[in-house]
Amino acid sequence: MKMIEEAFATNWIAPLGPHVEAFERETAAFAGVKSALALASGTAALHLSAELLGIERGDVVICSSLTFAATIAPLYHKGVECVFADAEPESWNISPKALEAALADCDKRGKLPKAVIIVNLYGQSCDMEPILALCNRCGAPIIEDAAESLGALYKGKQTGGFGKFSVFSYNGNKIITTSGGGMLLSDDEGAMARARFLSQQARDPAPWYQHTTLGWNYRLSNILAGVGRGQMLHIAERVAARRRIFDRYAMELGDIPGISFMPEPEWSRSNRWLTVLTLDEPLSPLSVLEHLSGLNIESRPVWKPMHLQPVFEKARYFTHEDGRDVSAELFRRGLCLPSGSSLTESQQTRVIDAVKENLDRQNKKA
Ligand SMILES: Cc1ncc(COP(=O)(O)O)c(C=O)c1O
Repeated sequence: MKMIEEAFATNWIAPLGPHVEAFERETAAFAGVKSALALASGTAALHLSAELLGIERGDVVICSSLTFAATIAPLYHKGVECVFADAEPESWNISPKALEAALADCDKRGKLPKAVIIVNLYGQSCDMEPILALCNRCGAPIIEDAAESLGALYKGKQTGGFGKFSVFSYNGNKIITTSGGGMLLSDDEGAMARARFLSQQARDPAPWYQHTTLGWNYRLSNILAGVGRGQMLHIAERVAARRRIFDRYAMELGDIPGISFMPEPEWSRSNRWLTVLTLDEPLSPLSVLEHLSGLNIESRPVWKPMHLQPVFEKARYFTHEDGRDVSAELFRRGLCLPSGSSLTESQQTRVIDAVKENLDRQNKKA
């Protein structure tokens, strides 16, 4: 509220202003990159990444299949060929083995990808070292979709600084929010100057409105940047709160036969944006979801992988190993529990009791 009041008091009610500049500076320092650009959404940041990489109709991009559609939507709209790679069971993120197979196939077809889009799912980093090695070998730039992983670490380093371009989202459901917003991050200051230009309607430096190209109106407002700055002061507490919620669910539900929780490899410190569980067959996550819904408790299925989406039914897809489709398995078996940072202990207890009740019933039937 203090920062919003400051925006009003100084009459900076615009898609630029001191909060925008400070939010960018503070976020770049947080992620350990040279430059950050505050935008209206994470999707806008993903779109600008594609523009900056010069991706055009007919180009190939490789993308992690297990994600939300916003990861790939800006590239789909550019008319690129989307090739999807499976998840690895260790982190649920892009499988280096599947990525290697996808790259080899691109090479064989003489169409190396213009970008590899990786996603830090549910607040957990990808295993960056093998991914960077593979992408560097074939010169494919990485777009790191860190929309869900603000505050998460890979080998002790913040996510959001591993891609040629990286993206945060401040959508209403994220660990911190500006009600809606995003950030583009990169060490390439030349490209970021271009991104700034494109995000502000591509106005040439002339005394009149002149355009050698056209751009977009993608900037974040000074008021919302104030909200973001205020929220960023509490990011460590939010991560700690979400991790506590995960630990409690895992402790209280972990002994139920057939239940597991999203793993955290030793190189990762997830922000546990969402607590996600998986159930062994024949236990049904949809049955849990419906039971919770009947008690007015919202839970969500795991993202439906892109290669299973009707819109991508013809896309190439590479699995983690022959005969094993990990992302399809996670979609079939997974469920996201309520995980908001402000969830009280008694609310958590309600969720835990409801999950236990449903799974006891399912286990008796099985
Ligand atoms: C993985 C992922 N990528 C991209 C986005 C898009 O971000 P935004 O909603 O800020 O456009 C989201 C969330 O909405 C997301 O979860």
